[in-house]
Amino acid sequence: MYRRHATSLNREIVSTTHAELQQQVARILMPGGFPNPAREAELLIAAVLDRSPGQLELDRLLGRSLERDQVDGVLAVASRRARREPLQHLVGSAPFREVELAVGPGVFVPRPETELLVELVYADPAARRTQARIADLGSGSGAIAIGVAMALPGAEVVALEASPFAWPWLQRNLRRHAPHVEARFGDWDAQLAHEHPASFDVLVSNPPYVPQRAIPADPEVRLFDPETALYSGGDGLDEIRRIAVAAARLLRAGGFLVVEHTEQQGAAIREILAGSGLVDTTTHPDLTGRDRFTSARQRG
Ligand SMILES: C[S@@+](CC[C@H](N)C(=O)[O-])C[C@H]1O[C@@H](n2cnc3c(N)ncnc32)[C@H](O)[C@@H]1O
Repeated sequence: MYRRHATSLNREIVSTTHAELQQQVARILMPGGFPNPAREAELLIAAVLDRSPGQLELDRLLGRSLERDQVDGVLAVASRRARREPLQHLVGSAPFREVELAVGPGVFVPRPETELLVELVYADPAARRTQARIADLGSGSGAIAIGVAMALPGAEVVALEASPFAWPWLQRNLRRHAPHVEARFGDWDAQLAHEHPASFDVLVSNPPYVPQRAIPADPEVRLFDPETALYSGGDGLDEIRRIAVAAARLLRAGGFLVVEHTEQQGAAIREILAGSGLVDTTTHPDLTGRDRFTSARQRG
């Protein structure tokens, strides 16, 4: 089906157009049950060819040709994507704020809404104290720790991660984007047990918060995000209960805690945080207006 010719560089050009490739990819994706295979095909082609959607549109309008290995690369990824492997795993990276984080099997893929958690941290006065100490509990790929460290170059940031499968991704991303962040392997509570009381200005976490029986509908999440990154007891709040106790011990006066959660959990989390003695409990919406983050403060 391809017509071929060789360029002066001897790269094989095939006459498949971008529009044809998109249709072919959408057909391959069909068994995956995507709500919008054409849109999914467009995202996949853009990611594999490392083109923005705008550049792809221009390629289409100008009728630009594709090289054989580009077409082959896209089609190979499409068949794996049809089995709902996350696109980020297939291309090996996920954007987060101003960086591209390396991701793959074993590590939680950072989500765009978590960028707001970073913004809540660096907007807080406690994070802007001189040499603020900030801990990211359950760092995964390092998204939050790196985002905070880049936004607050004077801060001392500690990234804690207990999964041996996520750990290499964390180390790799820290080496590349924020080598001054201290990474500690193991349960965050155990890793912080030797810290003096009132020794941190900010604790931040996107912890596991899915109730054990609320299996996520998206196959990408259910099948490919690590279980240790998702589930946290019957109501999803076990980890947040531990975080509340730790925050009451570890935060300095006026220190700030902020956690991510589902849109149904805000009220319960405010109650948990107040129950451990923290004040100013506040739930914050994401950009779509859903309540996804709750913060609290150590008494000043
Ligand atoms: C939802 S993921 C968030 C990852 C990353 N912070 C992000 O926002 O993309 C939760 C992470 O916490 C880690 N984790 C879960 N329980 C932990 C514990 N007790 N101590 C340290 N890390 C833990 C998981 O392995 C996972 O990487």
